[in-house]
Amino acid sequence: MCGIIGYTGTHPALPVLLEGLKRLEYRGYDSAGVAVLQEGTIAVEKKKGRLENLRQATKDRRFTGCAGIGHTRWATHGEPSDRNSHPHTSADGSIALVHNGIIENHARLRAFLERQGYVFQSQTDTEVLVHLIAHHFKGDLVSAVRDALYLAEGSYAICVVEQSHPDTIVCARKDSPLIIGLGEGENFVASDIPAILKYTRRCYLLDDYEMALISPQHVTVLDRNAKPVSKAVFDVNWDENAAERGGYAHFMLKEIHEEDKAISETLAPRLKEHEITLENIDLAGVAHHARRVFIVACGTAYHAGMIAKYTWESVLKIPVEVDYASEFRYRSPLIGSDDLLIVISQSGETADTLAALRLGKKCGAQVLAITNVVGSSISREADSVLYTWAGPEIAVASTKAYCTQVLCLALLMLRIGYEKGVFDATTYAQHLDELKRLPQLAREILKNEGQIKDLAHRYCSLSDAYFIGRNIDYAMALEGSLKLKEISYIHSEAITAGELKHGPIALLEQGSLLIVPATQPALFDKVASNMIESKARGAHLLAITTAEAHSILDCANDVVLVPSLSPWCMPIIAIIPMQLFAYYCAVERGYDVDKPRNLAKSVTVE
Ligand code: AGP
Repeated sequence: MCGIIGYTGTHPALPVLLEGLKRLEYRGYDSAGVAVLQEGTIAVEKKKGRLENLRQATKDRRFTGCAGIGHTRWATHGEPSDRNSHPHTSADGSIALVHNGIIENHARLRAFLERQGYVFQSQTDTEVLVHLIAHHFKGDLVSAVRDALYLAEGSYAICVVEQSHPDTIVCARKDSPLIIGLGEGENFVASDIPAILKYTRRCYLLDDYEMALISPQHVTVLDRNAKPVSKAVFDVNWDENAAERGGYAHFMLKEIHEEDKAISETLAPRLKEHEITLENIDLAGVAHHARRVFIVACGTAYHAGMIAKYTWESVLKIPVEVDYASEFRYRSPLIGSDDLLIVISQSGETADTLAALRLGKKCGAQVLAITNVVGSSISREADSVLYTWAGPEIAVASTKAYCTQVLCLALLMLRIGYEKGVFDATTYAQHLDELKRLPQLAREILKNEGQIKDLAHRYCSLSDAYFIGRNIDYAMALEGSLKLKEISYIHSEAITAGELKHGPIALLEQGSLLIVPATQPALFDKVASNMIESKARGAHLLAITTAEAHSILDCANDVVLVPSLSPWCMPIIAIIPMQLFAYYCAVERGYDVDKPRNLAKSVTVE
């Protein structure tokens, strides 16, 4: 997610802006910039790369003003570059703006503005906002911002400055966070509390559609029609570390709780009323090549690919091979120009996955990447990219990236299916309706957190755990097992339920824990019989299932219920209880949840 900072007061703005951006670095970024009001103009500096690049670039210039805005960019539209960095400015440089969020109707607004003669300098969605504000500006900045935002669709947190308002910042938010720090003779605005904690612990938490007019002496909060509203002061009692995690104990927990938003952000620009639109994807080409599909990835990303093995083969009737990237690149795969290679990588930098991508291209396959990082090596080398707009994932254990990877594979499956006539319009519409329900259903699952925390407390001292499932549930079991072992260090493995009796059942003894994701109605009874076999040998059964799974409910010792959706849709959110279980087991065992031993967030070496 991007980071925003604004300051207006009696001290030079630049040091405050740079310090605030430094406090927001944890949010992940690929470029940074500032705009400072001074001497009737706006001084702007912005640079690709780390904050130090920006700091160096400002050293050679005079930034004397006492009001300004700053930004760290997490690229979504337009790769990381100086030009795509924020702040963006109006044609005459009299207005500057920073933005966190996605303007979904940016293409239509850009076309309108270009017809009015506006010339764009960047590839970003954000730039439409600053030209829209300039288009509506008749001397009153608040009215211009209000009128521009009436036309914008999507998510935004923005700060705007205009040269004839020398100490004023106008800000607004919808879906992206924005807070106002209340100082003495100075005021602040930021994406998140860490950026202002050094100066004040009193703030306003803006709500959706609210705006604010900020000067050194006054903060006026307004509704979307620019009418003043009263706000309660929020007194921050967090320490700085806790503030970076939004008050959560660990980034992993914060990111699990962001999964509803990650799903929304990944869906929103692609899910129109009655269709799925996938930007920059040559759909005809993908559909043509999807006669045989190879999915290659590592770790959690591989487990997301395993979900597609089951769903794509059963729904699209297309053969899907899934490989660990480290295996794919050395097994002389029979891949060629009639094949589609999908590489999945949260970081977009995993060495084995990048090598597999290059091998696939060398063999003539069309390569589609699913990644979370715009401008990453994998995103740049693939023929097309489908981004998981999950926002930066800081914890080593991947959670929201997995959910959005599975979601992107589902979007692609549904779109190809519709292209190939697998679904009629009614079925397609029903599937889209299920997708729209996912963010709310994820929130409902998260309400079960207390029950899962109790289960973790009960089982966290075990040395082993077994995840069993069939079909899609087995693919989910793989991910649940990895989560548990990589952060709690409890040895665990995923076993296909039908395979238990061919050996692994010998491992079971009194009190062995079997965690059973069971979300596929056609297999409930089969899995139930495997559970009964295991229970007869002393195993304890923790089922993650739906209220309709009577045979499962009858034999499980513990049950975590999840909503019932189409089989292909279940893993997008049914994984959440297993993520939470792993998290709370690791916390109970006192380990460093966000930075587990021996692991890196991105394995950029073989
Ligand atoms: C998952 O929790 C692990 N951090 C690890 O398995 C990770 O998924 C794997 O290294 C792949 O990373 P990538 O998605 O960035 O390519």
